[in-house]
Amino acid sequence: MMNLLQKKLGFSPITGLALCLAASASSASEGRYSINHPGYQQECGSCHVAYPPQMLSSASWRAVMGGLDKHFGTDASLDEKTHSQILRFLLANAGKRSTDSNGKPLLRITETRGFIHEHSEELPQDIWKHPAVKTAANCQACHTAADKGDYSERSLRLPKGVMK
Ligand code: HEC
Ligand code: HEC
Repeated sequence: MMNLLQKKLGFSPITGLALCLAASASSASEGRYSINHPGYQQECGSCHVAYPPQMLSSASWRAVMGGLDKHFGTDASLDEKTHSQILRFLLANAGKRSTDSNGKPLLRITETRGFIHEHSEELPQDIWKHPAVKTAANCQACHTAADKGDYSERSLRLPKGVMK
């Protein structure tokens, strides 16, 4: 990510600070999200990373949590108590922006405008089919600390042979 790094380092500290503050208003501080909830991390972080709640709206989380028995081809059902604890955590931390498409809440972060925007500029089109990535939902293929909610540039490593 040299080009990104150089872009960042090219700023004066003052501008950099201002940009950091501006960025943190919209996207958490430098790409770091809190996923701290033991039940959520345990139950929703076993097949894939526990995704940042901020990346979907409350309507989307309700839709995801309402269909866990048919969850992307698997059964991710929970007992009632765990279900309501996790739902409460997700709703309390959900993104404020709508993640609807044609009036229906999206179930995938990877289909939201925010995600597409963050990932269209620097990445080659066929990146998601790379054998080390397989699917865009596999955040950890590139964000090596995604399991801790850390999507900052510091922990970003593209798989070998991916750089444009
Ligand atoms: C039994 C395995 C399993 C468990 C447990 C599980 N998931 Fe998933 N989840 C999947 C699979 C498989 C996909 C689809 C991944 C893909 O497209 O490559 C997925 C995808 C997702 C996506 C969409 C990812 C994208 O493309 O943006 C969300 C959101 C999600 N899961 C939330 C949850 C939540 C919340 C929980 C806990 C209540 C949970 N998952 C538990 C298997 C699981
Ligand atoms: C193939 C590699 C790859 C995968 C897989 C991937 N990303 Fe990214 N992501 C990137 C790159 C490259 C950037 C751009 C970094 C930049 O421009 O600062 C990025 C940027 C981001 C940012 C902005 C970070 C910031 O500095 O604010 C977020 C948030 C993010 N990704 C979340 C995700 C999530 C959530 C997933 C999984 C659902 C995911 N990414 C999957 C490569 C990837």
